[in-house]
Amino acid sequence: MKKIGVFTSGGDSPGMNAAIRAVFKTCSHYGITSVGIQRGFNGMIEGDYIELNENNTEGIIRRGGTILKSARSEAFRTPEGREKAYQFLKQSGIEGLVAIGGDGTYRGVRVLREEFNIPAIGIPGTIDNDLYGTEYTLGYDTAVNTAVECMDRIMDTAESHDRMFFVEVMGRDAGFIALHAGMASGAGGILIPEDPDDWNELYAVLEKRGKAGVKEPFLVVVSEGEKEGNAFYLSEQIKTKYPNFDVKVSVLGHVQRGGAPSWFDRVLGGKMGVAAVEALRAGKTDLATGLKGEEIIFTPFEQAVKMHRIPDVETIRMSKILR
Ligand code: F6P
Repeated sequence: MKKIGVFTSGGDSPGMNAAIRAVFKTCSHYGITSVGIQRGFNGMIEGDYIELNENNTEGIIRRGGTILKSARSEAFRTPEGREKAYQFLKQSGIEGLVAIGGDGTYRGVRVLREEFNIPAIGIPGTIDNDLYGTEYTLGYDTAVNTAVECMDRIMDTAESHDRMFFVEVMGRDAGFIALHAGMASGAGGILIPEDPDDWNELYAVLEKRGKAGVKEPFLVVVSEGEKEGNAFYLSEQIKTKYPNFDVKVSVLGHVQRGGAPSWFDRVLGGKMGVAAVEALRAGKTDLATGLKGEEIIFTPFEQAVKMHRIPDVETIRMSKILR
């Protein structure tokens, strides 16, 4: 293999740049040229790319986001779009792809392999941690650290005013960020889509406090995918029932996606980047890299896109004791 293309697609996540750098370093190590395709599948269709080198990968390990930019491509969903992407890959001599993103990204490169036989290896890049085939996705650790830092700050004001806070965190339809950030913040309530009883249990706790007239700082972490409703809606329920509570809402939003990656996400991006290039060199395709313990493992795209990872019941059980 003489030339490999790397790209990022879907939502950016901290650590993507570390993975891009790792693809460049590993390719250089094996005498392979590496190119960075810009703006995900859109750049592939439009032939928008840069050759990666020491200069444009210098220092990127420290930076959040993705230097290659990211996009969710509508054009790639059409046969004409994919034909254009293939023509670009053929003309520029790109023989294999490293695709950094979520299950939509895996689906895209899988179709490209089926239609045009371009081999591809995936790297799971999302803050949501919901991809099957890895214990950690790239960016999750940083996002949880950011959420915890924000919650610590919020608790300073909650403690100063004896306030109750409903803090909404990201995660799409998965509760990983809420569960772990909530546990790490010592939250009194954690609401995640995977736990059907959480709202009733929390309501019972608040009812007791309301009746007893307890007015103390209290943190509820709400996952954006919580089935009972969002942080504003749920806080209104409590405010209406217990007007003596001083209730505030804070939605952390995209602040969780940005920022310098943690050491963990930098190392994870590095290891996955090396493994992805080495897998392509070994003639492998249609596999997603993943982390199991210290080891990098591979899961077929077919399995990775079908299954959805959810928090384990034991962690959820323990988190209830710790509230
Ligand atoms: O998948 C990552 C994520 O940040 C989710 O947690 C969130 O639901 C979504 O992306 C937000 O997407 P966008 O940036 O397109 O609004």
